Amino acid sequence: MPSVMKLALTGAVALLSALQANAAAWEARHGLTAEQFQKTFDDLQAKNYSLVDISGYTDNNSPRFAGIFKQHKSKPTFAARGEIKAENWHALFLQLRDEGFRPQVVDGYTVSGGARFATIWDKSSKTAWEERTGMSADGFQTVFDDLVDKKGYRLIYVSGYAEGKEARYAAIWEKTDKKTEWVARFGLTSEKYQEEFDKNLKNGLRPIQVNGYSVDGKTFFAAIWEKSDSIFEARHDMTSEKYQETFDDLVSKGYVLSVVSGYERGDGVRYAAIWDKKEEDVCGS
Ligand SMILES: *[C@@H]1O[C@H](CO)[C@@H](O)[C@H](O)[C@H]1NC(C)=O
Repeated sequence: MPSVMKLALTGAVALLSALQANAAAWEARHGLTAEQFQKTFDDLQAKNYSLVDISGYTDNNSPRFAGIFKQHKSKPTFAARGEIKAENWHALFLQLRDEGFRPQVVDGYTVSGGARFATIWDKSSKTAWEERTGMSADGFQTVFDDLVDKKGYRLIYVSGYAEGKEARYAAIWEKTDKKTEWVARFGLTSEKYQEEFDKNLKNGLRPIQVNGYSVDGKTFFAAIWEKSDSIFEARHDMTSEKYQETFDDLVSKGYVLSVVSGYERGDGVRYAAIWDKKEEDVCGS
């Protein structure tokens, strides 16, 4: 019921899909217009899939969507929207919060200089959470310091986007007893992100989320890393073709896509993504 995606628009197909025999079924799509994404959403929702990640971005100022869907044994409870304008965010926030949902993804993107959000909410956990949108870099840092250093929250999601020519951030924090070492960075150029990635990897920290975004013609990354010895693959600055190629290769090796982020770079759309190697499903069902 509340998982209606309110999307409406037009465009050309790009396709990614994977249905794995021995693991929970999942599907991924990228480069879809709002209309195409909505159709995919409706088709998959009817088969008890939930949307677990969504990325809104633009191709020549025209909205595009990428997403990851997971199938459940029974009808999942979640709520998703693809094209919420910044001025309508607060009303939606209050509505979903009052219905007992909590945000898992709040992905900002920019159409004609105006911010929009693609978002996913669910009822997966009862711990305290905080969410903010429309933060400047300084504002983000201030909220971050307050919640993380003083109040014991962890950042679980971050998205950069532009409002006019200025960077803005949307983020979600969760209060948790989890002590695993983690680190988050934002406003990184592609080279800085790679440096940070390499440095963190040496210290045993892997990316659990990455978000690419474009501000005034420049590309940046925001990401969260966590200490873990799980097996993963991460790539950024992939063209659509490279993304598809990498996707096919990794899926054939038993990886599952866990994060996808599309963004516009001067010469076209690029993707950043993270894949996780899944354990064999012992039950096989
Ligand atoms: C979806 O879940 C419901 C129970 O919530 C079940 O009755 C139905 O068969 C499931 N549909 C599919 C396609 O798995």
